[in-house]
Amino acid sequence: MEKNMRLILIGFGVVGQGFAEILRDKAAQLTQEQGFSAQIIGVVTASKGTLYRPEGLDIDALLGAAESGSFASYPEQKGLKRDLSADAMIEGRAADALVEVSPTDLDTAEPALSFCHLALENGMHLVLANKGPVALDYASLNAKATEYNLQMRYEATVMAGTPVISLAGDALAGCEIRSARGILNGTTNYILTQMEGGMSYSEALAQAQALGFAESDPSGDVEGWDAAAKVLILCQSLFGRPMRMDDLDVSGISAIDSADIAEAQSAGERYKLIAQAAPDGGEVRARRIPLSDPLASVGGATNAITLETDLLGAVTLIGAGAGKLATGSAILTDLLAISSSQ
Ligand code: HSE
Repeated sequence: MEKNMRLILIGFGVVGQGFAEILRDKAAQLTQEQGFSAQIIGVVTASKGTLYRPEGLDIDALLGAAESGSFASYPEQKGLKRDLSADAMIEGRAADALVEVSPTDLDTAEPALSFCHLALENGMHLVLANKGPVALDYASLNAKATEYNLQMRYEATVMAGTPVISLAGDALAGCEIRSARGILNGTTNYILTQMEGGMSYSEALAQAQALGFAESDPSGDVEGWDAAAKVLILCQSLFGRPMRMDDLDVSGISAIDSADIAEAQSAGERYKLIAQAAPDGGEVRARRIPLSDPLASVGGATNAITLETDLLGAVTLIGAGAGKLATGSAILTDLLAISSSQ
C-alpha cells in the first residue's frame, strides 16, 4: 500500500533545497520500491516568504522561486496561500510531519523549538536537521512525542546523512556504548585540510560557506559550538544523559594559523577538531594528532566517529558530515523510517 506523507518545511536553505531535490529526483523509485511518496504542502522561511497549498507545492517551481531569492516568483496555483503563518499552518493539521531545516540557534533554539512543540501537539511527527531543539530541549520534545504517540527523528543533526544515530540506536541496540570520539564538524575539517594545502584560513572558510557546509553564522563552526551541539545530541542519544553546553569543555580552530599547521606537519602530525562524548561529560578541542591516528586521514568535509562498545569493541563510521544532498538524504531516511513504522 502506498503511503503519502504531507510535509511542512520550516526553512528552505541548503538542506531544505537538497531534500526537495532528492524528493523530486527519487519520487518514482521511492514509490515503486518502497511504496513511499511525499508532498511538500507548506514552506516557511525568514527571508524568502511563505507558501502553503494543501494539495501540494510544485517542487521545481519551489526550487526556482528559492533560487530567485523570493517565493513571490512562485506561480499562482489553485488553493495557494502566500501569507499563512507557521503556527496557522501547523494548527491546520493537514500535514503528517514537520521538517525543521531552519538555521540552528544554540542560545534559545527559537523559533524552531516552539514550532516543534506545536507540531507535536497538533499530531505531526518531527524530523530535524536543525540542531538547536535537539541539543537544548531533547528531553521535553521526546517526552511530548511519546505522549502523543509520535516520532521525533534527527539523523541529519549529527554527521549529516552518515547514519550514526540509527547505527547507535538500531544496529548497536544490543551493545552498551561507552564513549564516542570523532570529527563532527565538516566546515572546520575542510578548513584545516585546505590550510595544509597552503590556502589561507579566510579563503578556506569562504569556500566552506560557498559549498554549503558552514552554518549561517560560521562562528558556530570555527569556535567549536556546532560540534559541541552534536556532542550534546550524542550524550542524549547514546547514553541517555541530558547535558548542557556549560557541562562541556569547548574550543575551536580560530586560533590556529598557517605557522601552527606547518609546525605540526613537520612533526608528522595534523590538527583536527576532535569531539568526545562520554556518560560523564564531553569536550571539543583542536588537537595535534599523529598521522597514525585513523582520524588524521579524514579530510575535507568528511566526518568520522568511533564508538567504544562493550560487545564489539571499537566501531568506526566515516562519511559525509555536511552539504546539501548529504544532509537532505538524512531527512528522507527519517521520513522513510516513520512511514514504514505506521
Ligand atoms: N556546519 C555544519 C558542519 C553542518 O560544518 O559540520 C552540518 O551539521
